[in-house]
Amino acid sequence: MLRRILLGAVILLSITTNAQQNDAKMNAFINNLMSKMTVDEKIGQLNLPTPGGGIATGAVVNTDVETKIREGKVGGMFGVIGVDNIRRVQELAITTSRLKIPLFFGSDVIHGYKTTWPIPLGLSCSWDIPMIERSARVAANEATADGLCWVFSPMVDIARDPRWGRVAEGSGEDTYLGSQISAAMVRGYQGKNLAADTTAMACVKHFALYGAAEGGRDYNTVDMSRLAMYEYYLPPYKAAIDAGSGSVMTSFNVIDGIPATGNKWLLTDLLRKQWSFKGFVVTDYTAINEMVEHGMGDLQAVSALALNAGTDMDMVGEGFLTTLKKSLQQGKVTQKQIDDACRRILEAKYKLGLFDDPYRYCNPTRAKNEVMSADKRAASRYFGAHAAVLLKNSNQTLPLKRSGTIALIGPLANNKSNMLGTWAVSGDAQTSIPVFEGMKNVGGNGVTVLYSKGANITDDTTLAKKVNVFGEKVDVGPGTPEQLLNDAVATANRADVIVAVVGEASEMSGEAASRTDITIPQSQKNLLEALAKIGKPLVIVVMSGRPLILNRETEIASSLLQVWHPGHEAGNAIADVLFGDYNPSGKLTMSFPRDVGQIPVYYNHKNTGRPQSTTSEWDKFRSNYLDVPNSPLYPFGYGLSYTNFSYGDIKLSKNQMRSTEKITASVTVTNTGNYDGEEVVQLYIVDPVASIAQPVKKLKGFQKIFLKKGESRQVNFTIGKEELSFYNSDLKWIVEPGDFEVQIGTNSNEVKEAAFKLVK
Ligand code: BGC
Repeated sequence: MLRRILLGAVILLSITTNAQQNDAKMNAFINNLMSKMTVDEKIGQLNLPTPGGGIATGAVVNTDVETKIREGKVGGMFGVIGVDNIRRVQELAITTSRLKIPLFFGSDVIHGYKTTWPIPLGLSCSWDIPMIERSARVAANEATADGLCWVFSPMVDIARDPRWGRVAEGSGEDTYLGSQISAAMVRGYQGKNLAADTTAMACVKHFALYGAAEGGRDYNTVDMSRLAMYEYYLPPYKAAIDAGSGSVMTSFNVIDGIPATGNKWLLTDLLRKQWSFKGFVVTDYTAINEMVEHGMGDLQAVSALALNAGTDMDMVGEGFLTTLKKSLQQGKVTQKQIDDACRRILEAKYKLGLFDDPYRYCNPTRAKNEVMSADKRAASRYFGAHAAVLLKNSNQTLPLKRSGTIALIGPLANNKSNMLGTWAVSGDAQTSIPVFEGMKNVGGNGVTVLYSKGANITDDTTLAKKVNVFGEKVDVGPGTPEQLLNDAVATANRADVIVAVVGEASEMSGEAASRTDITIPQSQKNLLEALAKIGKPLVIVVMSGRPLILNRETEIASSLLQVWHPGHEAGNAIADVLFGDYNPSGKLTMSFPRDVGQIPVYYNHKNTGRPQSTTSEWDKFRSNYLDVPNSPLYPFGYGLSYTNFSYGDIKLSKNQMRSTEKITASVTVTNTGNYDGEEVVQLYIVDPVASIAQPVKKLKGFQKIFLKKGESRQVNFTIGKEELSFYNSDLKWIVEPGDFEVQIGTNSNEVKEAAFKLVK
């Protein structure tokens, strides 16, 4: 035993010494380099321009970038895509700038790079943490094969408002699950060694609270208590920092009245001092300049504000480049602040191995073999099937039989342009697999698949124009809406079962794509009504970047499958699920409202002093609405399978524990249906009495298990102090003795319950 402890200590010591030696080596290298740098060159390292080749998300793109690179006025680039282009730009920096400092190259690698898979909200519905980590690994692999070494991901903004288009990019409403996903993605991108040529530096965003924009309107004001920040919104960012994220991106919103990019409490006190973040902070797109509109002063003032707050790198706006020297001369910023920011950028380059070899990520052979390779497409198909959530399945309409005739109907049924979803800036939608093709591939020769478009995604030409800003996502015709509808009805009449693929175009969610009406557009509602009237089994497949309101669809569908925007292998992945080659296992990570007026609707809300009674849907002087129930249509954690799972009662290892002890909560889950399948077993904790009013429940654990039909498994959760703690009004993470309730179940609403006591 003693020998083992000694051996452990020696290993730990040698790891620490190695790390210290590496740091010392890096510091010596950077000290030496910085001793040769002029103030202009140091400020140059803080500049992150984009030449505007990709999709610019603001009005501004940079000009004269080449001259700036020659003059040492650029630290890194984003929006340069392709290994040859990146090599050319790197060569320019290495061969023409005075100190030959390499650039780093970043991009929005959000749900894949060129090969794309489900939008992050979809991926989160898999609750499959190892798979999500693998998705980041695959993305890093492909992106680095094409010259990139920095990804603007993970996006970990907790979001409760599906009107906000950017819910598509995150992992939904829950802090615990969101934190697990956040850390997994950082691990996936960065691997164990940032300097490896297959790993990329992560950039957790948007720090912070961006998901709480008022009214779900993008870029809007955020106002919340510190308690809400600590309890609900901050942990996923912290999880990314703890997992070693090399960089952090600021958000556009204000926090306590000060924009995040100029918020010293956020970027210095919290991020650096409390959380010990060692990497660098980059702004979001022109976020420094936008502080002028926020009312924080002119460009020089806001640039100084940003540096003083702890921002290191300026994305696109060039406020640092054009004003920091003047601010230095006027004593508004210090040389040390500029040096610290510059050092952090150089450290990132050092850690990425760029000083050893600036062309480390520029390997055309890798680009040729690894970009859009067959294994990546296979991964995309796998992820696509795992993101699907089965919302309804009456009469076992699904899985479909591989015989007879299927009428495949809808504007998204034979469509390539919308399969990748939002934030697929490097992906080519035309290389995606539409559902029609996937159904034929997977269905085989025994089944006839007929197709008819049935409706335009929308007949609202004003909306279509806005959605089509980056290319045609809403295509019109052929023929009038009436002709499309008639053809669909005629086609459906010839089939045994109807599969309607409907929903949102990819650009109806994502950045600057907020909606107040989050239902399926009217043109498609008309189509669904006409199909429902036919009276044949109707499977509705919903593609969207956000939770939609699906009341009527739930009523008329025999089966309802939510598939998000699934990415390159959309058609194959959806067909795998529809034909039962993959038994769906996704569970919602955002509640689906019944009505837009309920928003925000989320499972871990507080109780109020007049909670809705459990026995009636409405009572006078209770916290409810006159016109709709409080509950969502589909709750957090909800999702069906082709098989059924039954839950036994919860067994606790004891009924009382001390805070130094742990309790095991066990439940036996049985697959009682006719298919093998996976189930996400969810653990919730209820703390009914505390010094701070607690949410009605909090997710504190989950396990995704596979059970063959007829198989039973005991699932165990360990509950300790960590699971029972909360932030008090001093923002201390504490645990208070008292009664607790344990809930285990198939979603946040259907659970078994048990109780125990925590004693001093
Ligand atoms: C978005 C970021 C993105 C950046 C660079 C901004 O508009 O908010 O998420 O990383 O653009 O493309």
